[in-house]
Amino acid sequence: MEIRVSTESLESYIGDAVVVSVNEGASLEGAAARADRLLGGLLAELVKSGEIRGKADELTLVHTQGRLPAARVAVVGLGKSAGNDSFTVRRAMGMAARRLRNIGCRRVGTTLHEVAPGGPRGERGVRAAVEGTYVGLYRGAERKGKQEHPEELEELCLLGIRKEYLGFSEAAVRAAQVVGQATNYARRLCNLPANDMTPTRLAEEAAKMAEGAGLDCRVMGPEEIEELGMGAFLAVAQGSDEPPRLIVLTRGEKGPRPRVALVGKGITFDSGGLSLKRADDMHMMKRDMAGAAAVLGAMRAIAEMNLDCDVMALLPATENLPSGHSYRPGDVVKAFNGKSIEIVNTDAEGRLVLADALAYGIHLGATHLVDVATLTGACVVALGHVASGVMGNDNNLVEAVLDAADQAGERMWHLPLFPEYRKQLDSQIADLRNIGGRAAGVITAGWFLREFVGDVSWAHIDIAGTAWTEKDEPHQVEGATGAATRTLVALIERMAGGMAWPSEGE
Ligand code: BES
Ligand code: MN
Ligand code: ZN
Repeated sequence: MEIRVSTESLESYIGDAVVVSVNEGASLEGAAARADRLLGGLLAELVKSGEIRGKADELTLVHTQGRLPAARVAVVGLGKSAGNDSFTVRRAMGMAARRLRNIGCRRVGTTLHEVAPGGPRGERGVRAAVEGTYVGLYRGAERKGKQEHPEELEELCLLGIRKEYLGFSEAAVRAAQVVGQATNYARRLCNLPANDMTPTRLAEEAAKMAEGAGLDCRVMGPEEIEELGMGAFLAVAQGSDEPPRLIVLTRGEKGPRPRVALVGKGITFDSGGLSLKRADDMHMMKRDMAGAAAVLGAMRAIAEMNLDCDVMALLPATENLPSGHSYRPGDVVKAFNGKSIEIVNTDAEGRLVLADALAYGIHLGATHLVDVATLTGACVVALGHVASGVMGNDNNLVEAVLDAADQAGERMWHLPLFPEYRKQLDSQIADLRNIGGRAAGVITAGWFLREFVGDVSWAHIDIAGTAWTEKDEPHQVEGATGAATRTLVALIERMAGGMAWPSEGE
C-alpha cells in the first residue's frame, strides 16, 4: 500500500472513495459539508432522516455518480465531539479502511486526520489516521473459507495538507508506517498457536528481528539462567519440556543515561501449572506472551525510527505446565535479587518470571524499567477489555506512560500501589508470597513486582484485558491487538525528543 500526502482536496481526488466524518448530533462541517454541497444536499438529507447519526463505528456509503471525482463518499461517525482525540481518529480510520477494503476499494482518500490534528503542524492527526489504517487492515490468522476481500488497498491519500506542511506530514506518515507495521508484527507473533510459538521460537523470531533492525540479541538457555540465580523464572520453567529462554536485545551505546529496560512477559502457554486453570478459556493462554510481543514490536519500531535513546529489551520466555518436574504450591524459591518467595499458586507465574527479569535489568544498568504483561484476571475485572492498568513507584514515569498512551491512542488507567496493600503478600516462611488473595488482585500483583525493582524508577502495564479481542470489532479483526506496542514507542519518542526525563535530577 502506498501512502501519500497531498494538497489535493475531495473536490479533485480521483479514487474509489473519500472518507469524511461527522460528530454525533452535530451538523455537517468541514469536508463533510463540502461533499454535501457537491452531492446536492444528499448527506444533509441523510442526517435529517436519521440514517447518518454520527455515532462511533457508523459508516454510510454514498455513490457519487460523477458529482465528485471519487466514486464514493464514506461518511464516518465519530461519536460525541468531545471525543475527537487520536483514539477516535485511529478507530474511525481503521474501521473505514477495513470496510472499504472489504468491498473492493483500492484507492482511498481521507480527511480524518483533520479532525484531531494535534502537534504544531497536524502531525498527530496524520499519525493517528495512518496507524489506524494499518491496525484496521491487518487480517489476523488465516481462516479457512472465511477470507475477507482478498485484494489489498493500493493507495491511501491524506488530502488537504497545506503545502508548507507536506514535509512534516510525510515524516509523520513514515513514522506511522513503522509503528503500524510494528503493531501488526506484535499481533502476528501473539496469534501463533503455542505449539509453534515456543520459547525457542520466540527467541528465534527476536534474533531475526534484531538482525533486520540492527539490534544486538543475546539468548540465554536454562544453564545460564540457573547460573545467574534466577530461581523464580526457573521454577516456572521446570515443569515444561520446552527449555526457557531469556532474550536480551540491546541497541549499543546511545549515551550514558538514561538507560531504559522494556520487560515483556513471555509465557508462551499458561496452563496454570499444578494450580491448573479451568478448561473453558485455557486455549486463550497461547497469548500470554503478548507483553513480550509488544516489547519486540516496540524495539523494532524504535530501531527503525533510530530514536536517540538507550533502550534494551528483556524477555523471559517459558511455558507454565504441570508435570512430574513442576514447581509446587508451597515451594519456596529464591529470586535473582536474593529475595525468597513462597509459591502459593503456580498460576501466578507471570510475576515470578518478571521479578527476575526486572532485577536483572537493574543489574544491567537500567535507570528506568517499564514492564508489559498479561498479568492478572483481576485487571480484566477492574478495567474490562477497554483499558490497561498502569502502576509504578515513580509518578513521573507513570505520568509519562499515561501521556504516551494518550498520544498513541491507547486507553490506560493509573491504579494505586498504596502501602496498605503490601501486607496481603506477607508470608510466614519467605520474604513474600506470590499471591495476595482476591481483593485488589491487579494491585497486589503490581506490588509483588515492586519488590524486585528497589528504588529504580519503574512502571508496570497490565494488558490482560486489552491484549486480545475475542470478537471481530469494526476497526480490528478478532485476536491479538498489539496492545502497548504503540505506547512504548511513544514513550521512548518522548524520552528521545529531549522532553523532561521522568525523575531527572534524582
Ligand atoms: N496469564 C494470567 C492472567 C490472565 C487472565 C491474562 C485472563 C489474560 C486473561 C496469569 O498468569 C494468571 O493466571 N493470573 C492469575 C493470578 C492468580 C492466581 C493470583 C489470575 O489472574 O487468576
Ligand atoms: Mn497464570
Ligand atoms: Zn499467565
